[in-house]
Amino acid sequence: MYPYQLNSLEEYHRAYQKSVQEPEEFWAEIAENFQWKKKWNKVLDWNFTEPSIQWFKGGTLNITENCLDRHLADKGDQAALIWESNNPSESSVTYTYTELHAKVMQFAHVLQNNGVRKGDRVCIYMGMIPELTIATLACARIGAIHSIIFGGFSAQAIADRLDDAQARFIVTCDGAFRGAKDIPLKSVIDDALVGNKTIERVIVFERTRVPVSMLKGRDVWWTDEIQKVEEAGNPFFPAAEMDAEDILFILYTSGSTGKPKGVVHTTAGYMIWTNYTFVNVFQYKPGQIHFCTADIGWITGHSYIIYGPLSAGATSLMFEGIPTYPDAGRFWDIVDKFKVDILYTAPTAIRSLMGFGLEHVVDKDLSSLKVLGSVGEPINEEAWQWYNQHIGKNNCPIVDTWWQTETAGVLISNLAGVTPSKPSYATLPLPGVQPCLVDDAGKEIEGNGVNGNLCIKFPWPGIIRTTYNDHERCRQTYFSVYENYYFTGDGCLRDEDGMYRITGRVDDVLNVSGHRIGTAEVENAINMHTGVIESAVVGYPHDIKGQGIYAYVIIENQHGDAALTKQDILQTVSRVIGAIAKPDKIQFVSGLPKTRSGKIMRRILRKIAEGDTSNLGDTSTLLDPSIVDEIKSGAFKFFRMMY
Ligand code: PRX
Repeated sequence: MYPYQLNSLEEYHRAYQKSVQEPEEFWAEIAENFQWKKKWNKVLDWNFTEPSIQWFKGGTLNITENCLDRHLADKGDQAALIWESNNPSESSVTYTYTELHAKVMQFAHVLQNNGVRKGDRVCIYMGMIPELTIATLACARIGAIHSIIFGGFSAQAIADRLDDAQARFIVTCDGAFRGAKDIPLKSVIDDALVGNKTIERVIVFERTRVPVSMLKGRDVWWTDEIQKVEEAGNPFFPAAEMDAEDILFILYTSGSTGKPKGVVHTTAGYMIWTNYTFVNVFQYKPGQIHFCTADIGWITGHSYIIYGPLSAGATSLMFEGIPTYPDAGRFWDIVDKFKVDILYTAPTAIRSLMGFGLEHVVDKDLSSLKVLGSVGEPINEEAWQWYNQHIGKNNCPIVDTWWQTETAGVLISNLAGVTPSKPSYATLPLPGVQPCLVDDAGKEIEGNGVNGNLCIKFPWPGIIRTTYNDHERCRQTYFSVYENYYFTGDGCLRDEDGMYRITGRVDDVLNVSGHRIGTAEVENAINMHTGVIESAVVGYPHDIKGQGIYAYVIIENQHGDAALTKQDILQTVSRVIGAIAKPDKIQFVSGLPKTRSGKIMRRILRKIAEGDTSNLGDTSTLLDPSIVDEIKSGAFKFFRMMY
């Protein structure tokens, strides 16, 4: 079925060797398994200096023909997408490949009728419903560039992204169901559009039936537009011929500076990388049901709910709700109901469910499970053991998959049941991935049993191509920190056996519940609150979220109601970024530890936030060393807020 699926450790080693020694031959052979409109004339052209990376140059294709059309003959009646509602009493929905193909073409007509053309940017802001997958694939069918924004982002955050992408269209819903909450998506979009100059059309799918304002000439209902397509007859929509390096999508992610950047992935390389990693990491077998619990608003959903599984002709299960609604047994009910084979989730979800005890697990039938996956942050040993014992029943390999928005798919992971696993280790690189550790001067650290900054030496098909509209930012962030390497921003250990263990970010990026948040971004948001003079944000260990957000804030008037001011600051952050970026702790301070040149010594703030004040290192270079004692003592009196 998948001639490139690696079935043994020897096969893995052989493939790995070949991918390093003859990368072009290696990837050309794999690319032959996909449907091309025109074959490439050069497999790889690259330099990391500009950077300029082109895979399968000269080739043309459409990713939806690979995800849909080519499966119709032998898998037309097989489920492509299974959808489970937030509300357990609402019926689930299944689309076969034939049905999904038809739905995608229908919506491609809708997009076209509303003016969308190849190369246009379409922003998608929806809940986890099948129409999100349909809209995404319809963009790809036309050759429009999708930019999906996670439903938790605020109007301001959306406005910034719309502006950066110069988006012309939005697809959204009236609202979304998430647990017991209804999220008013359309009204957030309306706020985001105040002052917007590029959006011409907003297509609205009705999901929660909340009252929404529909602006004449700008806003249209999804179902009305579908009806027009049905009335017109002629359901077929030809797949646009895309160059291998044409942009497939933009996905915004946080970095160490204030402004989120639009990570750009292109058509052929992204498709091949998500497919290859899906088939190999999870060891997917035809007919199995793959359940990735991520939201499609993040890269994990893009790659392992939509493109990886569908390009492999798999059955992908998508869930609208949250793991704890209506109770903490929801994931296990879903596994039981659909006889899920592969479950891919995040350590934060596992830790949160562990906290509810075993009562929600014990009477669920989890015997269909064959492979478990983890993504988004280091999985701590306790969570790994619980996942292994209580969910996998000591019988399912756990793949700890390390990767990033910028990498499109998994780079370092064990292959389920094929290569060895080790708790809290991502283990070994996939074929095509050449990791290396470098010291702060950029010198490669050879050998085993060493720690360093994790870089990659050679391009793999899914590597980031640029940051939208700002190539220089891409170069500076990823390709110029260490010359001739792609820099991941992560610290890493390579143990005596050559296994990789990610130790966390080495830059000012936090990982909160598996979501990336830049400290500078949160600081900018806090500083927008009236009365705030300055702030510094650091991460600290959090039992469930992995990292929590700790903000040190200097305010003008320290005699007001501190609790109320904290709430106001939280509200400001929610408005500017979204609830996901709200600090878990706020401490008011009269100053920040700064060097004489004005640089904030975050190392000290991190230690205090971690509760480790015994050894703060050398503070003599600080402009005002006494501020450290003040912050230290304040840290203990601190009013703790929980959400
Ligand atoms: O620090 C690493 C961490 O998440 C970062 C990437 O975040 P994002 O682009 O949002 O993508 C998340 C989903 C792929 C990485 O730089 N990370 C991701 N997976 C792991 C991880 N850290 C340790 N182990 C992992 N398995």
